[in-house]
Amino acid sequence: MSSYREFHRRSILDREGFWAEESKRIHWHKPFGKVLDYSRPPFAKWFVGGETNLCFNAVDRHLKDRGEQKALVWISTEVDQVKSFSYKDLFNEVNKTAAMMQSLGLGRGDRVIIYMPNMPEAVFAILACARLGAIHSVVFGGFAAASLAARIDDAKPKLMITADGGSRMGKVIPYKPLVDESIRLSKFPPAKVLIFNRGLDPQMPLVDGRDVDWVSLSSKFKDKIVDCAWLESSEPSYILYTSGTTGKPKGVQRDVGGHAVAMAASMTHIYCGGAGDTIFTTSDIGWAVGHSYIIYAPLIAGLTTILYEGVPMRPDAGVWWKIVQDYKVNVMFSAPTAIRVLKKFDPAFLKKYDLSSLKHLFLAGEPLDEPTHAWIAEGLGKPVIDHYWQTETGWPVLTALHGVEKTPIKYGSPSFPAYGYDLKLLRESDASEAGADEKAVVAIEPPLPPGCMSTIWGDDERFVKTYFSTFSKKLVYSTFDWGIRDKDGYYFILGRTDDVINVAGHRLGTREIEEAVNMHPNIAECAVVGVADQLKGQMPLAFAVLKDPAKKTSSQDVMDTVDKQLGAIGRPKAVHFVTLLPKTRSGKTLRRSIAALAEGRDPGDLTTIEDPNALQQIKDCLGIK
Ligand code: PRX
Repeated sequence: MSSYREFHRRSILDREGFWAEESKRIHWHKPFGKVLDYSRPPFAKWFVGGETNLCFNAVDRHLKDRGEQKALVWISTEVDQVKSFSYKDLFNEVNKTAAMMQSLGLGRGDRVIIYMPNMPEAVFAILACARLGAIHSVVFGGFAAASLAARIDDAKPKLMITADGGSRMGKVIPYKPLVDESIRLSKFPPAKVLIFNRGLDPQMPLVDGRDVDWVSLSSKFKDKIVDCAWLESSEPSYILYTSGTTGKPKGVQRDVGGHAVAMAASMTHIYCGGAGDTIFTTSDIGWAVGHSYIIYAPLIAGLTTILYEGVPMRPDAGVWWKIVQDYKVNVMFSAPTAIRVLKKFDPAFLKKYDLSSLKHLFLAGEPLDEPTHAWIAEGLGKPVIDHYWQTETGWPVLTALHGVEKTPIKYGSPSFPAYGYDLKLLRESDASEAGADEKAVVAIEPPLPPGCMSTIWGDDERFVKTYFSTFSKKLVYSTFDWGIRDKDGYYFILGRTDDVINVAGHRLGTREIEEAVNMHPNIAECAVVGVADQLKGQMPLAFAVLKDPAKKTSSQDVMDTVDKQLGAIGRPKAVHFVTLLPKTRSGKTLRRSIAALAEGRDPGDLTTIEDPNALQQIKDCLGIK
């Protein structure tokens, strides 16, 4: 076994040799001619000229050796159901779904928005898109109509796929009225909406000529086989919207070949999962973690993947560990917030079940505080690996690589750069490299490795401007995270450099929340900042200026507006009313100073403030003397 250091060094010094080797993990219909085309920095094209298909790699390829093995196990503690699908079953379901989509006019390059909870049909729909060469864009079910409409208008889908509803803590959440409203709000609505009716919402409205029932349509395509579309490696496979500094979400575009190779490689080197193993990733299919580690990586690598619909403490706080025991889970992946939730319950739940099958627990999506890391690692008696990545990268950037070398874990640290990432900590002032224990911007020297975003959907210029323009002197990818490396080479992530916040592992732009607040008819302007929260990591806090102070407006009214515009995940913890916001003389809201005050820190340099009275109002709201 080579050492982590050697492995990483080779991946950077001999990029092409390294990835040519890794590319053998997947099936190529037509071999590629060139490993990397980097003739147009920072755009990287991997495995040029090669043709492959994600669905073929995730499903068809396994039929010969593991057709009877479980591919997907769906466990819902919301509707009390369990369903298992072997690779053969999955093949049949995906083909049926692809045939349905074809009958609705869908083909290569067409976009499909999928707005569904964690249910098997969502996985079928995603893989069916991949089979046809259609581009899926899954939108997290927690997003409200206006957010969904913004994504529709950017992706311009031919088809939308949804369900009548989801369920949370036993309470039905109807999806269809939101879908209808989003279509009403959008300029580029899809021609058809395919609906899987779970029987959760008996009042579900239907639109004649547009809405199509999944079950009735699929009955026409029982044994239909649909050929895989062989795509050139760099063609888009999917779009996943994520938040940034502006209010407009960015469509992270992923390729086909690089994505498939990156997924397969990470399953071996990082997650230590092999064919026949079982993985349980507790995320939602609407997030990057769900895409990569519920669906693509496990299936490409021939694992059994568990799709869970429910919360971690229902029916009790042992439910996940019971799943580990009952399904002999080998690899588990969750988020720090979930562990902080479980920490509130009896630690005996961690010992109640036989967890002997479990090799590792991986956590990502937000900072993992040291006490939580220690609590779960010691409670389970298993290695708990904090690893760091982003929707943009699609797979880990910083991680321990136990598939390569069992390096010791330091609590609170996501260890080291993963192979393929030429990671740098750069000083904000001049892009020079920071030394040990010096806080700096986490950056990646391009080309980005396979599997990372290839561009922003429909906007190459925005891709370069957003991610590669932090430093005027140097073309490097900025993660927009602060980081630090200690003397032993371990990295620590210290929060975002931009206005993005992380609420319970959900990434949100404060600008997005501000735009939602501003939709309230009596709000003139507002500032939203993220403040530390013990359970959720961060929570949004809003300061708003009323248009007409005489008109009665409550915090609740504003919160309801956010729920309606953006979704409850963006709802501020509190809304404070002020008569003016602290701004610089050039009109920039001093969000960092507001956030600092709200967290009891020093607000920093305030010499540029236009009216100090504004800051006093913030202090008064927060009860600061
Ligand atoms: O700020 C970092 C934080 O989450 C951001 C990415 O969020 P998202 O695009 O939703 O992707 C999640 C994929 C796991 C990062 O820019 N973040 C993610 N993982 C960690 C983290 N912060 C600290 N420690 C982590 N392990």
